[in-house]
Amino acid sequence: MSLTTPQLRQLLTSRPFHFFPRIDSTQNYALQWLRDGAPSGAVVIADEQLMGRGRHGRTWHTPPGVALAISIILYPKVEALSQVTMLGALAIAETLDGLGATDIGIKWPNDVQLNGKKISGVLPEAVWDGDQLRGVVLGMGINVRVDFTDTELERTAISIEPALGIKISRAELLVALLAHIDALLILLGTGELYNRWKSRLNILGESITMMDVNGLIKGTAEDVDPQGALLIHAADGTLHRVVAGDIALGE
Ligand code: BTN
Repeated sequence: MSLTTPQLRQLLTSRPFHFFPRIDSTQNYALQWLRDGAPSGAVVIADEQLMGRGRHGRTWHTPPGVALAISIILYPKVEALSQVTMLGALAIAETLDGLGATDIGIKWPNDVQLNGKKISGVLPEAVWDGDQLRGVVLGMGINVRVDFTDTELERTAISIEPALGIKISRAELLVALLAHIDALLILLGTGELYNRWKSRLNILGESITMMDVNGLIKGTAEDVDPQGALLIHAADGTLHRVVAGDIALGE
């Protein structure tokens, strides 16, 4: 079923939102809305994105009718900023639990995986006034029925409906996701949010290869700290603290 503004107005009750059948990126719209003073929890939703953005400048594909693409505006304290990513990935993981998925994990830092394949990505983008944090736009894309057959992503990406053998309404998925986000917002900045996120990570103890801004690191994914940084024990005995990067399993 297509998403529509009247249907979303009914389901989202008093939450401020904008819905676009087609947009370049919900992130861009939400970033401007934040700068214009959007209220906390305001959300931008699109059926299709023409220039969806992923981490590290990558493209995020959102074909029409088959995915959930949202950007939610939040105003965390600056000390809790690093937990916004955790909140996003955890909210998605818990929403998917609620659909009966049994093998949901988080691949550091913020890819939500089902059966070891990426089902969702999270993109937090902060807005600053000098050194003052104005707010954050938390972007989330979930593959609902994106068909990856015969594409370069077939080996690594997956969608909810074919994976779980169910049909779901994107509007209801959105409502469930927003409820999980609201519940986790109360925990933002706490050890409980960190622990719940950490318990879902599927790479701790694994041999990994990490590409970060300083190059390649090979070693064991030993731990994550409360800011979400990954601690890698390299083969030469050194401990690396990495705040952003891409991981591949194996050496
Ligand atoms: C990633 O895994 O690289 C993050 C992907 C984030 C995609 C979402 S879809 C909604 C929002 N709008 C965008 O342009 N990107 C995010």
